[in-house]
Amino acid sequence: MRQAGRFLPGYRKIREKHEVLAICKDPELCAKVSTMPVEILGVDAAIMFADIMLPVEGMGVKLKIEEGIGPIISEPITDNRSAKEMQELDAASDVPFVLEAIRLVKKQLDGRAPLIGFSGAPFTIASYLIEGRPSRDFAKVKALMYRRPKTWHVLMEKLADSMATYLHAQIDAGVDAVQVFDSWVGCLSPQDYSKYVLPYSQRIFRKLERSGVPRIHFGTGTSNLLEEMKVAGGDVFGVDWRIPLDVAWQRLGSDVAVQGNLDPAAVLADIELLKLHAADILGRVKGRSGHIFNLGHGMLPDASAEIVAELVKFVHETTRSNPE
Ligand code: CP3
Repeated sequence: MRQAGRFLPGYRKIREKHEVLAICKDPELCAKVSTMPVEILGVDAAIMFADIMLPVEGMGVKLKIEEGIGPIISEPITDNRSAKEMQELDAASDVPFVLEAIRLVKKQLDGRAPLIGFSGAPFTIASYLIEGRPSRDFAKVKALMYRRPKTWHVLMEKLADSMATYLHAQIDAGVDAVQVFDSWVGCLSPQDYSKYVLPYSQRIFRKLERSGVPRIHFGTGTSNLLEEMKVAGGDVFGVDWRIPLDVAWQRLGSDVAVQGNLDPAAVLADIELLKLHAADILGRVKGRSGHIFNLGHGMLPDASAEIVAELVKFVHETTRSNPE
């Protein structure tokens, strides 16, 4: 999850000297930060330290990541020409540092935990490229989608193909699973999702079908879109706290796995209340296999590493005595 590590004191210390994108581009530093949650919290998997906008920078888009805000694009996409000008990703030359960092992390983890690679989904990346910065109402991205269908198609197809290339390169470099983040797609109606987004997300999942690694399809605020997201593809579906996990799982079907769905703010409660929240989720999956316990979205910066480590221990103990 984004910012899995950002609340850790060791990460904060590194951030005092280096920007997020600079850490991503330094394989040694990147590997150190990527393995930190496994070492310090005891979580069952590591996720690569990168950002969904990193490959887009490789495709020729100028961007920066501002603390407390997120990605900022200096020249947002407005028309066919600007969408066409974006180059398709060539992973080996555009993001060699990510592939190098994956090899380092795999070596350092040495089989102790699997490694998750990731990319943004076309809609969520497009929302940054068009809005220029994080958005509340997604008015610009929706306006372009409705008013310039050709530009939308050019952009979404290019993003889908480039993200599939990116994920394939990460798999070749050694990641054990891939996660596609469609963090902001919950702002769409099911009808618009089906028309404007589903074909492009589906294009990525289909291209990864024969890769042999599990594919996690993540969204937030997507309880209105679960059935459509399932059609788009994936082996595991991320669910946030706005819907009870068992209800979401029933709608998704028993042939897929689910990931989630603790409210990140629950980590700010005292440990007893936090355990009640976690126990509620584990109770809803009732020992069924195919559940990945996780937050419904990114860790909040105010979270305490000690409390999170206790949460991890609690989940391990509970599921060990009641094996999932
Ligand atoms: O969790 C991790 O440490 C893994 C690395 C990771 C980052 N970004 C590094 C990062 C991952 C998996 C991401 C994905 C990402 N980036 C997503 C999808 C997942 C999600 O959380 O929805 C999105 C939407 C982004 C875009 C983005 N990058 C936002 C909205 C922000 C927030 C800015 C803030 O400070 O709140 C970022 C910055 C960012 N990317 C940080 C990290 C660790 C922020 C912390 C910092 O400034 O050090």
